[in-house]
Amino acid sequence: MKKNIVFFEAVGGSDKGADGHRKDTMPMVNALKAKGWNAEVVQLTDEVLRDSAKREEVYKKVRDTADGYVSRVNPGNLKEEKLYFDVLRRLCEDGLVGMPHPDAMVGYGAKDALTKLADTDLVPDDTYAYYDIATFKSTFPKSLAKGERVLKQNRGSTGEGIWRVRLADANQYNSCDSLPLDTKIICTEAKDNHSEERKLGEFMDFCEQYIIGDNGMLVDMTFLPRIKEGEIRILMLYKTPVYVVHKKPAEGGDAFSATLFSGAKYRYDEPKDWQTLVDWFLAQLPQIKSKLGNYDLPLIWTADFILDTDEKGTDRYILGEINCSCVGFTSPEEFMAKIAVMVGDNIVDIVSEKKA
Ligand SMILES: Nc1ncnc2c1ncn2[C@@H]1O[C@H](COP(=O)(O)OP(=O)(O)OP(=O)(O)O)[C@@H](O)[C@H]1O
Ligand SMILES: [Mg+2]
Repeated sequence: MKKNIVFFEAVGGSDKGADGHRKDTMPMVNALKAKGWNAEVVQLTDEVLRDSAKREEVYKKVRDTADGYVSRVNPGNLKEEKLYFDVLRRLCEDGLVGMPHPDAMVGYGAKDALTKLADTDLVPDDTYAYYDIATFKSTFPKSLAKGERVLKQNRGSTGEGIWRVRLADANQYNSCDSLPLDTKIICTEAKDNHSEERKLGEFMDFCEQYIIGDNGMLVDMTFLPRIKEGEIRILMLYKTPVYVVHKKPAEGGDAFSATLFSGAKYRYDEPKDWQTLVDWFLAQLPQIKSKLGNYDLPLIWTADFILDTDEKGTDRYILGEINCSCVGFTSPEEFMAKIAVMVGDNIVDIVSEKKA
């Protein structure tokens, strides 16, 4: 073992601090050094990735000097994500420990992870993913006929292109198998909780943008009204929960968004304050891993839950989203140093186990 870890970052982007790094990167590097390991940051640009000689140089250097890498690149900060992922994929093939493997980032982080888990207790059975416009347009009028829905685009974040969709006339629910295109609907976007009255056909035309192009897809899941009690995010380091964020959407109207910009309030709790949820979630990890492609669990990741009520009237939690390609732990700031040390410990454990 070389006892050396590379942290990949992109140059530039709003996630960087004064030193040009993500604020939580150097604390992790320093945590590894404090444990007697070496760690370095390799900063990438589109220009380097496009230039095959420079790209090979980066690849070979990391291959020959590191035991593993930690990917800290926000999607959107590199246009050449495909080339970046190719480098990571080759490093994993060469035996480096990928934290995470690029295909794990896609498998866990894409919105259609939900549909891959639809046959488990984590996600309702009637959760669908649309990869082509024809299927979307024939299926969505049927799913909406049964009840209120949330449509989620795959790209983008912070609630953009995440739409709560309901019928303007609630009496129309369950009145037919498939709604006509001129049905009046109310659409609320999670970005800012604004609502618009639209017609179903016209709104589905508008949603075509989310399906076309690279990684385009729409996930269609039931609207969970208990979102008003909050969304519960578990921050995970590999298989250990670190803290739980309770995110309560703004009050009133159609507000359903737990994103910060939409006015949600955040509270940070200990995992033990959410013992039932945490224990249940940890018991699901083997299943989550196998359904999402059998890649190792990500190093730093989050799972978001919304409360629901089962047929017996008992609380149950529904998984709403997993994030894993760019999760940071910069807030609350007072936790950052402690978490960085925990990440360092996890990295040493993971790499030592894989390289043993
Ligand atoms: N099925 C649902 N029922 C009720 N509310 C939901 C549902 N799914 C999502 N929401 C609400 O919409 C918000 C945005 O959805 P989601 O977290 O899936 O996307 P995102 O926030 O854009 O992604 P990211 O968290 O990666 O930025 C959630 O925070 C939650 O408040
Ligand atoms: Mg979210």
